[in-house]
Amino acid sequence: MSEAPIDATSTDAWAELTTLAAGFDPDLRGWFAQDSTRVARLTHDAADLRVDLSKNLVTDEVLAALIRLADQVGLHGRRTAMFAGDRINVTENRSVLHTALRQPAGARLEVDGQDVVAGVHDVLHRVYAFADQVRSGSWTGATGLRIHTVVNIGIGGSDLGPAMAVEALGPYAHDDLEFRFISNIDPTDCAQKLAGLDPATTLFIVASKTFGTLETLTNARLCRAWLLAGLRAVGVRAADPEIVAQHFVAVSTALDKVADFGIDPANAFGFWDWVGGRYSVDSAIGTALAVAIGPQRFAEFLAGMHAMDEHFRTQEIAANVPALMGLLNIWYVNFLDAHTHAVLPYAQLLSRFPAYLQQLTMESNGKSVRWDGSAVKTQTGEVFWGEPGTNGQHAFYQLIHQGTRLVPADFIAVANPAYPLVDGDVDVHELFLANFFAQTKALAFGKTADEVRAEGTPEGIVSARVFSGNRPTTSILAAELSPAVLGQLIALYEHITFTQGVVWGIDSFDQWGVELGKQLAQQVGPAVAGDAAAAREQDESTRMMIEYYRANRR
Ligand code: F6P
Repeated sequence: MSEAPIDATSTDAWAELTTLAAGFDPDLRGWFAQDSTRVARLTHDAADLRVDLSKNLVTDEVLAALIRLADQVGLHGRRTAMFAGDRINVTENRSVLHTALRQPAGARLEVDGQDVVAGVHDVLHRVYAFADQVRSGSWTGATGLRIHTVVNIGIGGSDLGPAMAVEALGPYAHDDLEFRFISNIDPTDCAQKLAGLDPATTLFIVASKTFGTLETLTNARLCRAWLLAGLRAVGVRAADPEIVAQHFVAVSTALDKVADFGIDPANAFGFWDWVGGRYSVDSAIGTALAVAIGPQRFAEFLAGMHAMDEHFRTQEIAANVPALMGLLNIWYVNFLDAHTHAVLPYAQLLSRFPAYLQQLTMESNGKSVRWDGSAVKTQTGEVFWGEPGTNGQHAFYQLIHQGTRLVPADFIAVANPAYPLVDGDVDVHELFLANFFAQTKALAFGKTADEVRAEGTPEGIVSARVFSGNRPTTSILAAELSPAVLGQLIALYEHITFTQGVVWGIDSFDQWGVELGKQLAQQVGPAVAGDAAAAREQDESTRMMIEYYRANRR
C-alpha cells in the first residue's frame, strides 16, 4: 500500500501561493518591459522541443512557490517511484510503467523478478516483423493478395493514440497502405469505415487491453462477418479460422480471450497490466502506427518519448518542462480559478492531438478522491480541449481573447511543414505561423483603449475593441513533426498530467468513473430491446425516452 498523499493545501507553499493569488495583478506588458531576462529565463529546451513559458501569468515569486510546492508534496519521490515500477496505481494495485515501453534495448528494469524491458523488446520485435511483412506485401490475405487497408478496431486508448499518431505521421506512412479506425459502437462508424473496402486486401487489428470492451468486440464481430461474407461471395473456400488468421491480428493483455474470439495466438501481440490504456500508444497498441511508418520510424518515436522521460526524470524542477507546465496548471486551476485548458496545434497533422489529450488528462485527473480514498480539498482536473489553428481562430478564440473566463492555452507549431506550398511568391506556412505568433502576442499584451482610440475608433465602441491581454499561453516549437518529436509531445503531456496528479494526491492511473455507465448500459439494454419488466425497473425519465425510441424506430 502506498503511503498517504501529502495534503498540498496544508503545505507552506500552498499558503504562500494563496497569499500571492489574493493580490495578484498580472501585467505581462510591464513584466516584459521591466525584465529583459524574462524570456530567456522562462524558455527551456526539453529534448527537441523549445518551450517558451514567458507569456504565462507568473512572477518569480509565484514560480518559486510552485517549485517549493512540488518539493513539499514529494514530486521527486513519486517520480522515482513511478520510474522504478512501484505500485503507485493504488486502487488497481499496479505499477505504472509506460516509461519502460520506451527504454532502449539492453536497459534493465526488474519488477516482480521479471526484466520488463526485455519483455517489451520481445514484443516489439514481433510487432516489427509483422509490420515488415504487411509493408513488404509478404503478408497476404485469403486470396493471396497483399494487404492495402489496415483497420484498427478499438476505443479509448486503444483507438485515440494510434489514430492520432497515424494521422500526425501520415507523411512518413507507407504509400500503398491505407489506415482506418473503427471505435464507436454506433453502427454508422463500422458501416462508413468498411465502405468501399475489398475484404481480400483488408487486415483488421483488434486492439483492446482487456479484450472485454463491448464496443470493440461488437465491431470486431461485425468486421469478421463482413470479411467472411465478402470472401465467400468471391468463392473463397478456406475454413473460417484460416481466413480469420490471415485477416485478423489482436493486441491485448488478455491473450486467452483473444484465442476465445478465434484469433490465432500466433497473431496476437501482448502487453502488460502496468500500461494504462491512455498510456499505451507506445506498446503493441501502436501496431497500426508501426505498420504505417515502419519499425525504424516507430523506434524513433519511442526514442523521442524516452528522451522526454529522461528530461523529466533527471532535470531539477526549475528547468523541468513537464513539471513546470504541470505546476503552472496547478496555479491556474487552484489559485486563478481556470476551469479549462486549450491545446491549439498550429499543425494540421496534429488535429486529433487535443482529442487524444482529453483522454490522457481527463481520464487521469478527473477524480474527487485521493489515492488513500480521502476526499480532495481542491479542484482537480481541468477540461482539456482544442482544435488546430487557424480554424479555432475563426470559431472560439473570441472567448479566449475577450471573454470573462481565464483559458490558459498551449500553442504548438513546427518550423518545417510536411507539405511546403507557395501562393505566388508567398510561403503559405509562413502565413500560418504568423498567425501563431500574432495570437500569442495578442493574448499576452492585448490592446489598450488609448491604442484603440489612436486608430480613430468612435468612442462608443472603444471598449468593445479593447483587448485586456494577460491571457496566458505556452508556446511549444520544434523543427518538424518527426516521429521523435511526436513521441516527445506525448510524453511531455503524460508527465504534465502526472505532476498535477501528484500535487492533488490522486491516482492518475485508474478510471473507475467510466464503469457505472458501462454497467447501466447492460442493465438498460433489455428495456431498450422491449423487455417490459426491465422497462418498469427504470426511472421515469429513462423509461419515457426508451418508450419514445421504441415508438419511433422503424
Ligand atoms: O472505458 C475506459 C477504458 O477502460 C479506457 O481506459 C480504455 O482506454 C478503453 O476503455 C478501452 O479499453 P480496452 O483497451 O480494454 O478495450
